[in-house]
Amino acid sequence: MLPAGAQEGDPERGEQVYKACKACHQIGAGARNGVGPHLDGLFERTAGTIEGFKYSSAMKKLGAEGLVWNEFTLDQYLEKPRAYVPGTRMSYLGMGDSRDRTDVIAYLKALSQEAPAEDPTKANGDRPEIGSVAMQLEGDPEYGEYLSSECVTCHQISGRADGIPSIIGWPKEPFIRALFDYKTNVRSHQVMQNMTVNLGNEEIAALAAYFGSLDPQ
Ligand code: HEC
Ligand code: HEC
Repeated sequence: MLPAGAQEGDPERGEQVYKACKACHQIGAGARNGVGPHLDGLFERTAGTIEGFKYSSAMKKLGAEGLVWNEFTLDQYLEKPRAYVPGTRMSYLGMGDSRDRTDVIAYLKALSQEAPAEDPTKANGDRPEIGSVAMQLEGDPEYGEYLSSECVTCHQISGRADGIPSIIGWPKEPFIRALFDYKTNVRSHQVMQNMTVNLGNEEIAALAAYFGSLDPQ
């Protein structure tokens, strides 16, 4: 029997919904990779880290940047895989029904808890927050200034806001977190998602260093 998944989702119904995934994903003890990576012990697992599976570079990159699977990130990925992970190899168009998503996620979670996998890639204890890799880099403010030409058409250096928030003189962490929130659509904003989707850790750290070094006037 699966543990009852609070009010949030019904894992038993989720097992039915999971039929949509079965052709590509094995799950449970002894699960192996197929068309897609196995989903055993999925919860709290860093994206793109199952040994021996050939992930898209998009998925590996997001994993390296700190994307971890949980209710929230799975909900976004399953709704629109290609919007959440542009360049994903998963040729599944997405699950529009939010109840189906909630239930299948409850099922995936229940199985993750039933069989705590001895997976070294599982983030334990202090799981990295998305963006944590960029936060640890020493950003290059000159490179950031170069990249900023794309930003200052909207975000004025004078810090003057015209419906556009000022991003001058921010500490590094919140700046980086904001950019990753847009990049991964945690914070939905089409323009800012387009602006950040192709930025990597180096670029984001450089932008944080540059804008952070400016004094609000
Ligand atoms: C047609 C095959 C196919 C179907 C159907 C499919 N997937 Fe996938 N899935 C893949 C592939 C291929 C990848 C690897 C994506 C990449 O590398 O970008 C993947 C990746 C994933 C990942 C990331 C795993 C990791 O190790 O980071 C999750 C989570 C996932 N799928 C869940 C699901 C769920 C839940 C369903 C059903 C609602 C589903 N998938 C349906 C092929 C599929
Ligand atoms: C076409 C105009 C435009 C461009 C270009 C643009 N932004 Fe933005 N940016 C916005 C808008 C509008 C918002 C507010 C979005 C919202 O409501 O979440 C925003 C929000 C932000 C925020 C969060 C501000 C806050 O107060 O939370 C940061 C940080 C940011 N942008 C950085 C950048 C960087 C760095 C670039 C260049 C890589 C850039 N933006 C390019 C329009 C733009």
